Amino acid sequence: MEITPDIAKRLDQLNEKYQAMGQDMKSYLEGLQYMDYLKYWDYVHTDTLLSLQNPRTNFPDEKIFILYHQITELFFKLCLHEYEQIAEKKDITVDYLIQKLKRIVHYFDGLNTTYGIMIDGMEKDQFLKFRMALLPASGFQSAQYRMIELYSTDLVNLMQRDYITKNPETGNLTIKEKFQHIYWKAGATELATGRKTLTLIQFEEKYSEQFLILAEKCIKGNVYARYHELSEADKKNPELIQLMRDLDSNISVNWRLQHYKSAVKYLQGDPEIIAATGGTNWQKFMPPRFQRIIFYPELWSDDEKANWGKAWVEHTLKG
Ligand code: HEM
Repeated sequence: MEITPDIAKRLDQLNEKYQAMGQDMKSYLEGLQYMDYLKYWDYVHTDTLLSLQNPRTNFPDEKIFILYHQITELFFKLCLHEYEQIAEKKDITVDYLIQKLKRIVHYFDGLNTTYGIMIDGMEKDQFLKFRMALLPASGFQSAQYRMIELYSTDLVNLMQRDYITKNPETGNLTIKEKFQHIYWKAGATELATGRKTLTLIQFEEKYSEQFLILAEKCIKGNVYARYHELSEADKKNPELIQLMRDLDSNISVNWRLQHYKSAVKYLQGDPEIIAATGGTNWQKFMPPRFQRIIFYPELWSDDEKANWGKAWVEHTLKG
């Protein structure tokens, strides 16, 4: 084989790379000689990925339920990949924020346009039976969803509305105190007793410490905080403002409402079914107009905030 100038140049570059680390290039070349070709299935780990769906019952539609949860978690992971970079970027610029937010909005578009798989894609009779075999697990325990919220906005915007109304002075609260009153803790209380559900107790045991560490990182690293670092002119950038509004409505309204629609379809109407959710107050908790979680309050008008999620609910529940 002829050693062309191009090949010689690449060998020199490789040699430099290995020398810089005190390594012997020839040994690595020998390794290359014995190394097997990379195959798609090894790289993407398809066999592992496709072995992770393990239903607990024999109802065929349970597999759809598991798969779509996993698909959602992978999309959440894509979002978190962007959020982490936003949080860690030194000297953030408006272009950088736009580029990253576009991707996150796009991922949530993907989730919102496929959520129908959960609404129309399973037989209700099967769902109601296999759901009983999954207690007390719930999508409520999705840690990645909670991380997305922490990365999206200041912790104060995730606190329970009632608490803030009664205690408007949140400035002196520690992260731990704010976290104590995060909105979703109110969503997992038993209807009958008002006590924390087992679903919440187990979730807190597993993740609270991790969430507090992340909440600390997000004081400066959340999207809203990074937005506030921009110059006054950049803060008015129309593309950025539109993206932040899209992100807010995609996560805080659209996804939640799609999700609520599935709960209404499968769970509403039968008192016994309440048991299938661990007896939670989901009807009061899930609709965005009750939760009123708004990531970027200064980017919405008073009217828009007052009617948060309302139009969509009316439209959806009629349909
Ligand atoms: C038929 C489909 C579904 C139904 C009927 C359903 C039902 C519910 C209910 C009733 C709750 C309230 C908490 C509880 O009582 O357990 C909840 C919470 C939650 N579920 Fe689902 N769910 C479905 C699909 C999904 C999927 C595919 C995901 C994706 C990961 C998911 C993620 C969540 C999250 C993140 C919460 C907490 C929401 C919040 O705090 O606002 N769910 N779900």
